[in-house]
Amino acid sequence: MHISVLQEEFLSFFRNRPIRRFVDGTLGAGGHSLALLQEHPEIEELIGIDQDTNALAIAKERLKDFAPKVRFVHANFEELKQVVGSQAAIDGIFLDLGVSSMQLDQEGRGFSFLRDGPLDMRMNPHETLTAEDIINSWPEADLAKIFYELGEERRSRQAAKAIVQARRKERITTTGKLAEIISSVIYRRGKLHPATLIFQALRLAVNRELEVITSLLPNAIDLLAPGGRMGVISFHSLEDRIVKETFKKNPHIQILTKKPLVADYQESRKNPRARSAKLRFCEKLPQII
Ligand SMILES: C[S@@+](CC[C@H](N)C(=O)[O-])C[C@H]1O[C@@H](n2cnc3c(N)ncnc32)[C@H](O)[C@@H]1O
Repeated sequence: MHISVLQEEFLSFFRNRPIRRFVDGTLGAGGHSLALLQEHPEIEELIGIDQDTNALAIAKERLKDFAPKVRFVHANFEELKQVVGSQAAIDGIFLDLGVSSMQLDQEGRGFSFLRDGPLDMRMNPHETLTAEDIINSWPEADLAKIFYELGEERRSRQAAKAIVQARRKERITTTGKLAEIISSVIYRRGKLHPATLIFQALRLAVNRELEVITSLLPNAIDLLAPGGRMGVISFHSLEDRIVKETFKKNPHIQILTKKPLVADYQESRKNPRARSAKLRFCEKLPQII
């Protein structure tokens, strides 16, 4: 089961603040939402969104004691305004970005180079674009561009070239094969597997992750009630930069975390996923009429 990251820190931003309506935009296994529902019996409605039907099924079972209050929605959180209504006043919004451990651990989903499986990487199984499509059809220059921009991989061009050479011989269809091709041109650096950054770039591209948060964050701020709070946990620098810049530019909020909160030693030891997590929070200012 997925272990929720920075859960105590997340809860602390809502402590002693009544919540009526709450949106968890990345419900996952429902860990953060479960803890919040337990601490806030006054919650009337919690809208739990996930683009992964499998995650929603797990969360439904886990949150069954709170069933009448929870609305489970299969959607991309970029559709938040359509899901809650554009005039909604939400007391709290939370995003815990990226993939869950359940997604990473299922070899059939193709997120991990540690498990051989189909090159898929779609968080939403109903979407059409897969990592296999990108790897086998994008021009070499476009592959190099995403590896460099989204993966920050220094040997992006060498990786793209090796992929294009390999796919001329035979279609690349598995995570194992892709990891093998990458390992022939990128060498292990410290603890990082040679394919880490390339896989990260592909996942971000397949799910349009940076684009989606960029368009969602200003909409989410619009939907907060005055005094409502929003928290975002991101797992790499590009995401965190978008959150930081969006918060900084928005005149309707006060930033509650000058520096992002990170996991302490104990949590990082227990849960390696927590090591790169950064949590930022903001609060909607009262409206001046
Ligand atoms: C890190 S997990 C969330 C874990 C959750 N907070 C918990 O404690 O169990 C992220 C979840 O968000 C979902 N997700 C990521 N991006 C999404 C998006 N744009 N729209 C909807 N769901 C998304 C993923 O499918 C995944 O299930």
